[in-house]
Amino acid sequence: MSTKNIYILGIESSCDDTSASVIYNGKVLSNVVANQEVHAKYGGVVPELASRAHQQNIVPVVQQAIEQAGITKHDLNAIAFTRGPGLMGSLLVGTSFAKSLALGLNIPLIDVNHMQAHILAHFIEEEGCKTPPFPFVCLTISGGHTQIVKITNHFEMEILGETIDDAVGEAFDKSAKILGLPYPGGPLIDKYAQLGNPKTFKFTKPKVGDLDFSFSGLKTGILYFIRKQEKENPDFIKEHLNDICASIQYTIIEILMDKLKNTVKQTDIKHIAIAGGVSANSEIRKRLTLAEKHWKWTTYIPKFEYTTDNAAMIAIAGYLKYLNGTYSDISVTAQARLKVTE
Ligand code: KG4
Ligand code: ZN
Repeated sequence: MSTKNIYILGIESSCDDTSASVIYNGKVLSNVVANQEVHAKYGGVVPELASRAHQQNIVPVVQQAIEQAGITKHDLNAIAFTRGPGLMGSLLVGTSFAKSLALGLNIPLIDVNHMQAHILAHFIEEEGCKTPPFPFVCLTISGGHTQIVKITNHFEMEILGETIDDAVGEAFDKSAKILGLPYPGGPLIDKYAQLGNPKTFKFTKPKVGDLDFSFSGLKTGILYFIRKQEKENPDFIKEHLNDICASIQYTIIEILMDKLKNTVKQTDIKHIAIAGGVSANSEIRKRLTLAEKHWKWTTYIPKFEYTTDNAAMIAIAGYLKYLNGTYSDISVTAQARLKVTE
């Protein structure tokens, strides 16, 4: 098979972003993301509204991705799409669309695991970005997942540790909700934290075994702390927002860094990557950069646009599968639950 001129269209629709991307030989030609503003006022993603918005967005988003890439749909070699995990109604829109397009163009269809794709985004060829060697460890942190994954090759992954309750993105978003901030609150906590003092308030770190995580206790701790303070001063949040955000963020990032230190100790692997929406967080990016100097780790921090949900990561995963000759049957179905190892 010729591996010279390969154009892959990636389609992502697992949650509340409709995205399409064209990758040419591992390089991104386009990566169009339509965010769904509709959920902000509900304080979280409303599944029914998400699938309706995907239905409206998918045709123009795919068209735009192909146009921006400067090609026509007839140049495409394969269609890659997110099979799962995610919201079933959202996944079905992307899955059905990808199947029809692949059938219409008579080209291979490639299903992609969303969690693997977050990790495989590190293999997008970008100037100034290095690619991790095998084996490496990836801390996958998103709105639905918190995992430490060992990657032995592109398609062989092992979960070394994971959350036993909330995901770290949820910890950010639920804390933000307690502070009256709109969904998704993670980026807002990051923004206000940059103006605050991280040592102002102290929150208890959870005690959970080995390489696993737990965030539900922290969320409850923050809730009780805020309630207590507001009893004494109803304007407590308004007056201390930056310091509260900085302190919450500091605690969360400390938890993540502690687990990464344990992982390096246990595995002796010093190639450490981060992936997923929370890897957009400025503090974790800073701390990982510092770890290169302090602990001699080699760290891999994705470009900002490949952290939160995007189709470029689906397209690169599709490209790697294409080179491997791993295609899907047209009978493939969306799966709301899917492990990174499946
Ligand atoms: O990977 P992603 O886009 O979607 C999922 O697959 O879940 O991750 C979304 C999560 C949300 O919880 C959002 O608040 C969080 O990533 N997030 C951040 C930041 N940007 C996005 N959390 C903290 N700091 C950020 N800068
Ligand atoms: Zn994601």
